[in-house]
Amino acid sequence: MRSLLFVPADSAKKLDKAMTSGADALIVDLEDSIALDGKARARESAAAFLKEAVAGASRPYLVVRVNGLQTGMTDADLDAVVPAKPDAIMLPKAEGGASVIHADAKLAVREAIGGLAEGHVKIIALATETAAGLFCAGTYGGASTRLIALTWGAEDLSAELGAEANRDAQGRFLDPYRLARALCLVGATAAQVPALDTVYVDFRDGDGLRRECEEARRDGFAGKMAIHPAQVPIINELFTPTPQALKEAQAIVDAFAQNPDAGVVGIGGVMFDRPHLARAKRLLSRSANLKP
Ligand code: COA
Ligand code: MG
Repeated sequence: MRSLLFVPADSAKKLDKAMTSGADALIVDLEDSIALDGKARARESAAAFLKEAVAGASRPYLVVRVNGLQTGMTDADLDAVVPAKPDAIMLPKAEGGASVIHADAKLAVREAIGGLAEGHVKIIALATETAAGLFCAGTYGGASTRLIALTWGAEDLSAELGAEANRDAQGRFLDPYRLARALCLVGATAAQVPALDTVYVDFRDGDGLRRECEEARRDGFAGKMAIHPAQVPIINELFTPTPQALKEAQAIVDAFAQNPDAGVVGIGGVMFDRPHLARAKRLLSRSANLKP
């Protein structure tokens, strides 16, 4: 999954537009982009949209961001959307594997009531939105087979910290958020799921987004969330391995296949050992699974 586009659940027009945005996944949002007194209407709108959208032949992966477990609103969100069979929910303000187990149980009950196969609805956890969440970023492994990815957020964390800003004057994340980003990446890797980078809110700044995508891909993120359709093509481009990168990865795999007992090989005057092989295999498998 390269690009995941947020769409406020109460906007039929944006939901419609998002379907043809080219995003690998849509995140229909019931949380931060919906005011408290609009939640009920947004749930109805999300369910109506999903019912039609899931039946589409060539459609994006459909995720619903529910309200967090701490809000007391998660049950009503799930009651409304699970019968419409989304592919996944996004769990905001998650605090480790315990939150995922909790959400898993809530989903299982609704799947049983709605006649859906148990485990149909997957979970993407937003792992760094609370200070407590940072301290349990390493506890996602084995929590639930529903967990398919971790991602992170800086806005709620900066609000909780009482910070004045989360980026410096050049637009780069400040230390607490770089820590959150890194914990998301290593937490996801430890849990054997992909890590997805957070949103870039300045949606008219394509160069800034491009830079952030390059840094995220370099560090090991598999994709990035978007808030505006204009961001989707940039994210898709930068998280699609280049033909050159694929060719190099294939050459490494081939060289080891021809020398199965070798710990190290030379290609074009450069040394490659086992970690290079692991990285090459990972790139090839990611390339084969760009779309969920
Ligand atoms: N999904 C689908 N369509 C979107 C969109 C989105 N996330 N954001 C904008 N669009 C549409 C607009 O409706 C508009 O459509 P139109 O040309 O048919 O009128 C077009 O894209 C251009 O939009 P633009 O005028 O550039 O932006 P805007 O001022 O209408 O919207 C935001 C700006 C930030 C309000 C909007 O991008 C948005 O709602 N983003 C998602 C917010 C969200 O979900 N946040 C929670 C997670 S952080
Ligand atoms: Mg938030």
